[in-house]
Amino acid sequence: MVKILFVCLGNICRSPLAEGVVRYKLAQLDPPLEIDVDSAGTGSWHVGSRPDERALEAAARRGVDLGAQRARQVEHRDFHEFDRILAMDESNLNVLRSLCPAEHRHKLSLFLEFAPGSGRDVPDPYYGGSEGFDRVLNLIEAGAEGLIRQVWRDLESS
Ligand code: 4NP
Repeated sequence: MVKILFVCLGNICRSPLAEGVVRYKLAQLDPPLEIDVDSAGTGSWHVGSRPDERALEAAARRGVDLGAQRARQVEHRDFHEFDRILAMDESNLNVLRSLCPAEHRHKLSLFLEFAPGSGRDVPDPYYGGSEGFDRVLNLIEAGAEGLIRQVWRDLESS
């Protein structure tokens, strides 16, 4: 089982969307790919909250259900437990680098590295309108496809 953690700031917008979209795409694969996904935030303000209403709605329009997700903060043991820890933007990647023990730092990268040509950051949609969530979802769909393809290649060659 490959374990992947998506990380943004609040864990109520971008990383829950990434978790939901990747899980949705994995559920459509036959044969299945053994990937376990989770998400967390570097900040603690929203711990225990459901995803942002706009994220829930934008995901639902694409058939993705985020309803069971609750926000949590990144914990020290995440660096041991996960195989890949993917930050939704550079600022959160920097926070992860500052928290992560040196022996696990190779697990950290930007989520959009799996979607070449899509830029580096999934922009924070929190202070914008609902159209920002659709833009974010387009980036996340591209990253999710690339990520799944990469894990599939890794497992093939291992
Ligand atoms: P996220 O978005 O990091 O994609 O979950 C945000 C959610 C909340 C806040 C900022 C960004 N906030 O400042 O509360």
